[in-house]
Amino acid sequence: MSAIHVIEHPLVQHKLTLMRDERTGPKEFRELLEEISMLITYEVTRDFPVETVEVRTPLTTTTGKALVGKKVAVVPILRAGLGMVGGVLQLIPAAKVGHIGIYRDPETLRPVEYYCKVPTDIAERDVLICDPMLATGGSVVEAVRYVKNRGGRSIRVMALIAAPEGLRALQEHHPDVDVYLAAVDERLDSHGYILPGLGDAGDRLYGTR
Ligand code: PRP
Ligand code: URA
Repeated sequence: MSAIHVIEHPLVQHKLTLMRDERTGPKEFRELLEEISMLITYEVTRDFPVETVEVRTPLTTTTGKALVGKKVAVVPILRAGLGMVGGVLQLIPAAKVGHIGIYRDPETLRPVEYYCKVPTDIAERDVLICDPMLATGGSVVEAVRYVKNRGGRSIRVMALIAAPEGLRALQEHHPDVDVYLAAVDERLDSHGYILPGLGDAGDRLYGTR
């Protein structure tokens, strides 16, 4: 069974509260999403392997820890996942970026795929799939399936808010995929929106409606 990591760090929770606030406009919303994504990246990478290396300081020679050349692919689910990429890349600048275009049909709530491109060497990379909202879970379940079909084996999901229904769906379809997020909310409303949630993340990021 996959692990669900809820990041309780005060900075993450404070910024999430600001993002939930209906008065927060697109500029601040974008900045907050990037900042929280950076903080979640810190937790996602906590178990990355390091090795001991020699380093020359201006005064002497000593040893230090260095990452063991782990290769990462960041794969946002469009549109809202795009808002998380900058935060991840600030900490993992060498990561390659894939894109998965999926939107949720407003009537059926089923995911509709319209564009996908991921790095050709994705099988050799740790894949971080990013989407702030995990509602029914349909979009992320499809995104993970796409990455697996392309050879991806080590996959983690980064999100902001999930509904219990979406987490169950992800665990049922992809029990090997761990999730890192800031909150698990109460439930979905009759239109498939997360309650209390933060509304439509894509619209709030880009000022659309
Ligand atoms: C939102 C969100 C997720 C999806 C979650 O995207 O960013 O991708 O809904 O819902 P689900 O878990 O029920 O699939 P949306 O479909 O609104 O597309 P957009 O980001 O292009 O606005
Ligand atoms: N997508 C969003 O952006 N918000 C929700 O609450 C559900 C799906």
